Order: sequence, then C-alpha cells, then structure tokens
Amino acid sequence: MESSDLLKIIQGIPKAELHLHIEGSFEPELMFEIAKRNNIALEYDSIESIKKAYKFNNLQEFLDIYYTGAQVLIHEQDFFDLTWAYLTKVHSQNVVHVEIFFDPQTHTDRGVGFDVVINGITRALEKANQELNISYKLIMSYLRHLSEEEAFKTLESSLPYKHLIDGVGLDSSEKGNPPSKFVNVFKASANQGYKLVAHAGEEGPADYIWEALDLLKVVRVDHGNRCLDDDTLVQRLIEENIPLTLCPLSNVELKVIQKMEDHPVVKMLDRGILATIHSDDPAYFGGYMNENYYETAKALNLNRDQLMQLAINAFEASWLTREAKENHISEVKNYFNTLNIE
Ligand code: ADE
Ligand code: ZN
Repeated sequence: MESSDLLKIIQGIPKAELHLHIEGSFEPELMFEIAKRNNIALEYDSIESIKKAYKFNNLQEFLDIYYTGAQVLIHEQDFFDLTWAYLTKVHSQNVVHVEIFFDPQTHTDRGVGFDVVINGITRALEKANQELNISYKLIMSYLRHLSEEEAFKTLESSLPYKHLIDGVGLDSSEKGNPPSKFVNVFKASANQGYKLVAHAGEEGPADYIWEALDLLKVVRVDHGNRCLDDDTLVQRLIEENIPLTLCPLSNVELKVIQKMEDHPVVKMLDRGILATIHSDDPAYFGGYMNENYYETAKALNLNRDQLMQLAINAFEASWLTREAKENHISEVKNYFNTLNIE
C-alpha cells in the first residue's frame, strides 16, 4: 500500500485514546508562549533547541525533561490551553473519545492548587464535548517515585472533585517502584468509587504486571509490554480480557524496544490479548494517534483486519457504556467496509 493511502485510511478511522498524559502533550510552541506570559525563563532559547533536547535513552531521562516542562503551568488558563490544544489536535485526527491522565502532584508540589489544575483541564474537556463531540474520562495518576503517603494526600485533595474524576492511575519511574508500594492507596481509591489502572511492564518486569492485577486490582494495564515474558500471565490477561494500552512511538523513543519492527503488538493480537494503540506523550515522542497507528502499521505491515481490530479494541477497552461502545464499534466496522483494501 502507498504511504499516502495508509495515512488516509488511518485518518478516517474513528479512534479512542486511552493512554495520554496531558502534560506530555505540551508542545514547545505553547510552552514558550505560556512561559513568557508567566514570566518564567526556560532553559532553552528556541523551539529548535527544545526539540534537540528530546533524545532519551530511557524513561527517567524523559521524565526529568517532562517534569521541567510542566513547571511553567501555573494558572487555570494554562491548564485549559494545554488541554484544549491537545483536544483540537486529536479532533483533527478523528479521535472521538479520550481517557486522559493528569499528574496532580507535579503541580501541587509546586504550590499550584488542585482546583486550578482540575478546573482548567475539565473546562477544556467539557468545551470539546460540547463543540467537538468528543466524549471523555479523566484519570488522576499517582507518581510512583513519591511515597504512598503522598499519594494518600493527593487522594484526599481529589475528594471535593470526585464527580470530575473517573479513575486513578500510577505512573512515573517504574523500576524500583513496584505496584505493591501503593496497595493501600489503591484500595482507598477503589472505596471512593474510582476505577483503577496502572503503568506496568514498560521498563519493569512481568512481575509488576502481576502485582498490578493481584495487589492493585487494576482493570487495565498501561503498556504491559513485558507480559510476553510470562505465558501464564498472558493466559491471565486473555481469560480476564484485561486491556493493554500500548504506546509504540513512546516505546521506540524511550528505548523500551530497539526499533518499531520489534514492537510486540502483532504478537499480542495473535495471542488474543485486548491490545490497543495510543500516544502517551505525543509532544515528546514525535506523534499523536495517527502517527502511532501509521508508524506501527508501516513497520509491522499491519493488514486491514489488524487495523480494524486495534480500533475496535480501544472502544472495547474504554470506560464508555456498553451502548456507546457498540455504536462506535459499528462505526469502525462500517468505515472498514467502505474501504477497498485487504
Ligand atoms: N509519565 C508520562 N509518561 C510516562 C511513561 N511513559 N511512563 C511512566 N510515566 C509516565
Ligand atoms: Zn504513560
């Protein structure tokens, strides 16, 4: 297939994004603009020099830069602008449903109020729902390099805004910070009615995926690449239909894999795992949803059925109602039926 045909096909697929850190959608252009209006000096003197710095050997090297970038976000309007920019971008890529992460501790630890962060983000999500017909869920992520006690404080701060938050997640430096460190706060979060997800098996071992399932009781695993090291774990994921939200460009950029051709998504689909594709931190990793689909499809030579399966899986793995899932899945199937491809 010609590259331009593949791009056009991917553009037309109705898509759901389930693994996106809103702070990771902070494009250098907007970062400069917000830094300027907040009178904050950036370490970089140009957009080009920022982009040059985006070369990572591992997750930690990325996180150091990602947390620095987020420091220019101070006011509610900043969080609104960040989120709105992301939503208009993915709207242009035919993303119709999003379930996005935010990292409250990255902001509250700098003295920015929880209310400032969540009000800015939800105002943009609501506007996108009204004006762009994008449905959404919001996931509050605990930073795993910090203590469980800190996570408990974040849970406490979230309670007045519980009606705006659908779930909790676990992100940041994985190695040395296993899911078991957060058992109590995940239990308390579930008691508050939050759904549970966690990053596991990105850089960390398959054992961390077991812990996320058995100890944290997550309903979805973010990344989960390393599950293929453990056949019993793969069986468990299949039997319980636990989705894995994969992020191919992120995996290449953070050296989780050497090259896109090594990405495990096809192996996972072949085994019957509910694998899905997302963008993680698109401003840092060279692409949003379409670019993730495109680079994966090109490198792994995905066929029509595999592309359709990935799009369907994302709606299946979402937290939409059964009825909404079925509607979106029908749209995906109808779309592929109109295409004349193998
Ligand atoms: N925070 C933002 N992106 C992340 C990733 N890929 N892994 C862990 N934490 C993150
Ligand atoms: Zn992530």
